[in-house]
Amino acid sequence: MVELHPGRLRCRTVVYVVVILTLIATVFISRLSVSRRTPRKKIKEKSRKRQQERDYIDVTRIEHKVQTQFLEPTDEALNETLYAPTSRRRRKNHCKVFRGSTEGPKHCVPLKTKYGETPICIFDPVEDRMISSYIRDYGTWEPDLVNMTIDILQANPAMQFIDLGCNLGVFTLSVAKLGRRVVSVDILSRALDNLQHSLKLGNLTENVTLILNAMSNTREKVKINLVPDNIGGSHVGQHGDMGQHEELIYSIIMDDLLEIIDSGEVFVKMDIEGHEQKALENSKEFFHKANVKFLLMEWMLHKGKPSGDKIIKYLLSNGLLPYLDYNLREVLPLGRASFWPDNVLWAKR
Ligand SMILES: *[C@@H]1O[C@H](CO)[C@@H](O)[C@H](O)[C@H]1NC(C)=O
Ligand SMILES: *[C@@H]1O[C@H](CO)[C@@H](O)[C@H](O)[C@H]1NC(C)=O
Ligand SMILES: *[C@@H]1O[C@H](CO)[C@@H](O)[C@H](O)[C@H]1NC(C)=O
Ligand SMILES: *[C@@H]1O[C@H](CO)[C@@H](O)[C@H](O)[C@H]1NC(C)=O
Repeated sequence: MVELHPGRLRCRTVVYVVVILTLIATVFISRLSVSRRTPRKKIKEKSRKRQQERDYIDVTRIEHKVQTQFLEPTDEALNETLYAPTSRRRRKNHCKVFRGSTEGPKHCVPLKTKYGETPICIFDPVEDRMISSYIRDYGTWEPDLVNMTIDILQANPAMQFIDLGCNLGVFTLSVAKLGRRVVSVDILSRALDNLQHSLKLGNLTENVTLILNAMSNTREKVKINLVPDNIGGSHVGQHGDMGQHEELIYSIIMDDLLEIIDSGEVFVKMDIEGHEQKALENSKEFFHKANVKFLLMEWMLHKGKPSGDKIIKYLLSNGLLPYLDYNLREVLPLGRASFWPDNVLWAKR
């Protein structure tokens, strides 16, 4: 039996105490130096950024995909979106699905479509003198282009419709009324808010996804210039622009739309106030993976401009040709693009 000497016991206790104190001191000092490296301001900014990211990512799309998951359990890409770790999933979702409130009074009038009337909620026609007042008076907007779009989609039953720059949703509502899947993008939350209300009134929400983003060649925060007397003419602000800045939103690239659309043939309508060429700059994957059979584009702002030349070159390289009309009999003369109509239908034959 070993008897402990009281002096030895005291010595051991002192050693233990010293070891414990050293440990505590080490932890404390290492923490101090960490917080010195990341000042409070930075930490705050980081958490603000994280919060923004969280606000920016919406789960409706995931919910939508969950529904689809049961129909297509073999789709691996879908599975990945559903089961990927949250951080990875976050990075994948650039498209901001719009789920605005539909509170407040809305001025809704009948929109004429090939499949009957459906309500369309317009802006104050006194304020929005071009499109809203025209819709109120005639129940339509750009009817020739809408009719052409519907005719083409009717002839191609599996084709989805992408409405870039949907504004109040004349195209979106007409195509949804046909019972087709639509993805609609706009930069103005108030336009999407109205459109969402219109879709609800017309029982058309099922097949339409609304996205609040600008289309561009980069992903960044952009300022929106509101054109008060033509709200549909609102656009992404340029440096030195004198417009009235309304909202800050995020831009996405066309490739990001692959997050939302189903695979298969697509018809793209593009009316994004001169930003068409920029949006096409980062769309390689989109054109590679989505089968873009038709592209209806506002040409007015690209006539005789370098942007026009770039668009022509790019779309030709993706197998699309510009046609005079949707009978696709006559290809527009490539050398005379400044004389092309204000809207051009590109098609893959
Ligand atoms: C989808 O992911 C789950 C969870 O990782 C896995 O159990 C399942 O087998 C996957 N299904 C397919 C079709 O890849
Ligand atoms: C568009 O289609 C509608 C409904 O079929 C028709 O009433 C209208 O005249 C057409 N408009 C144009 C410009 O083709
Ligand atoms: C949504 O799309 C499906 C498939 O195209 C169609 O059967 C259904 O009727 C559509 N729903 C509405 C409300 O139009
Ligand atoms: C929408 O659906 C509701 C109930 O399902 C129905 O009462 C209403 O008449 C429908 N509205 C339209 C415009 O079809």
